[in-house]
Amino acid sequence: MLPSPISDLVVSPPPLSLLTLLPSVFLLMLIVYTLIHHHMQPEKKLRRLPPGSLGWPYIGETLKLYTENPNSFFSNREKRYGKIFKTHILGCPCVMISSPEIAKMVLVTESHMFKPTYPPSKEKMIGPEAIFFHQGPYHSHLKKLIQSSFLPSTIKRSVPQIEDIVLRFLPTWEHKNTINTLQEMKMYAFEVAMISVFGNKLEATEMEGIKGLYQCLEKGYNSMPLDLPGTPFNKAMKARKGLNEKLRRIIEKRKESGENGEGLLGEFLLSNEKEGMKMKMNESQIADNIIGVIFAAHDTTASVLTWLLKYLHHHPHLLDAVRKEQEEIRCKRVEANRGITWEDTRCMPLTTRVIQETLRAASILSFTYREAVEDVEMEGYLIPKGWKVLPLFRTIHYSSDFFPHPNKFDPSRFQVSPRPNTYMPFGNGAHSCPGSDLAKLEMLVLLHHLTTTLRWEVIGEDDGIQYVPFPVPLHGLPIKVRPLN
Ligand code: HEM
Ligand SMILES: *[C@@H]1O[C@H](CO)[C@@H](O)[C@H](O)[C@H]1NC(C)=O
Repeated sequence: MLPSPISDLVVSPPPLSLLTLLPSVFLLMLIVYTLIHHHMQPEKKLRRLPPGSLGWPYIGETLKLYTENPNSFFSNREKRYGKIFKTHILGCPCVMISSPEIAKMVLVTESHMFKPTYPPSKEKMIGPEAIFFHQGPYHSHLKKLIQSSFLPSTIKRSVPQIEDIVLRFLPTWEHKNTINTLQEMKMYAFEVAMISVFGNKLEATEMEGIKGLYQCLEKGYNSMPLDLPGTPFNKAMKARKGLNEKLRRIIEKRKESGENGEGLLGEFLLSNEKEGMKMKMNESQIADNIIGVIFAAHDTTASVLTWLLKYLHHHPHLLDAVRKEQEEIRCKRVEANRGITWEDTRCMPLTTRVIQETLRAASILSFTYREAVEDVEMEGYLIPKGWKVLPLFRTIHYSSDFFPHPNKFDPSRFQVSPRPNTYMPFGNGAHSCPGSDLAKLEMLVLLHHLTTTLRWEVIGEDDGIQYVPFPVPLHGLPIKVRPLN
């Protein structure tokens, strides 16, 4: 998924011109606010807003978000106001939700009342036709196509290709003095994303070209949306155009050869042949979604993989147990002289639980963002039209009501399934992640070869966290890799 839009709200300061106007704007807003407040009193008695502080108008609680760790910002307010509370972030009144039942209403049962919402600059960069930004028939058509491309029955065919990528990466790690785990995992997850989108027949030069443009796009995505010559944003928008051009050529080639080809792109082209005029995707719709899926697939998976290596390194007894589980599979494999299979990956219960617990503990998507399309009543509270609603995944994952001793890294808690709607590393409902099985598969295949052939040491033991914009271990977790013997 895309990084939560709030992460850039948190880091980008208000526009400069506004700063100089601040005192007068402040005063004006205060007056308007007081007037509106006054006017709304009679209605508010009938329909209560959720508890919480809206802070100063406009500036709201943003300053507090700047100066407080986002996690404690949420948990402090939850303690004070309960599982649904209102706050104000950079001009947007929002309702934060840390109750699984209410989060389910927003994301699943009442999802038509809450549309996805992103800053316009992000939408422009990924492409406005990408799945994340839509609702209704266009969204469900896309969702079906993307889901079928990432179904277990589809992705099991790419296990040998994923394994090939792993077997190309691992020896290079061994030969370097230290590696930056996050950077390496990004390259790995990028290559897996590329084969799942384009199939295995992409030429190396095409792959390199797309990779370069992507890196540029990513830099702009994580910086200020300032469109002036030479800014990262500006360069990113240029790279985005370049990506369109590359995609157009790939599609052209496929059409000339008379084959739709493999991967998600093949799925899109095939469905265009089948569908009536109405659901045909035009070229920008195809491009925005191909680029969007690669975007959603690689940073997320890479961040989780980085946490996996960190947690395993910090819990040597778990690493030993994982290694033992993988060693048994390796023995069978070596005996039969074959590579890893989908079926092998279904027989890794402990490793799978370690991944589940990593997804909970890291909660790299701390929350998501929706906007009420109408006035909605929920749990007796009014959520006014236009307000943002934030289901707080991380807060739910760290609630001791659902996950006892939440700060303990304990994969055994997943020997029992979590209570419904309390475990949402891949979201929930209409917009939940279609790539969850692929993400888990690429983690399992990598862990299999990594734990049975190599060991790693973390350089400069440091428990810091960095936001890039997902939370990752500080400096991307530098490690030293050695053969296992
Ligand atoms: C561990 C890795 C991943 C995590 C933690 C993750 C997490 C998420 C979450 C939480 C959402 C829902 C966001 C929301 O409701 O606003 C989401 C959506 C999405 N993810 Fe992932 N994801 C991961 C990997 C992938 C991969 C490998 C793909 C490749 C197919 C992918 C493609 C998508 C897409 C296309 C959506 C948007 C779905 C929609 O809007 O209907 N993700 N992801
Ligand atoms: C593709 O369709 C969308 C939605 O109808 C439209 O906004 C866009 O301009 C179209 N793009 C092209 C290249 O035809």
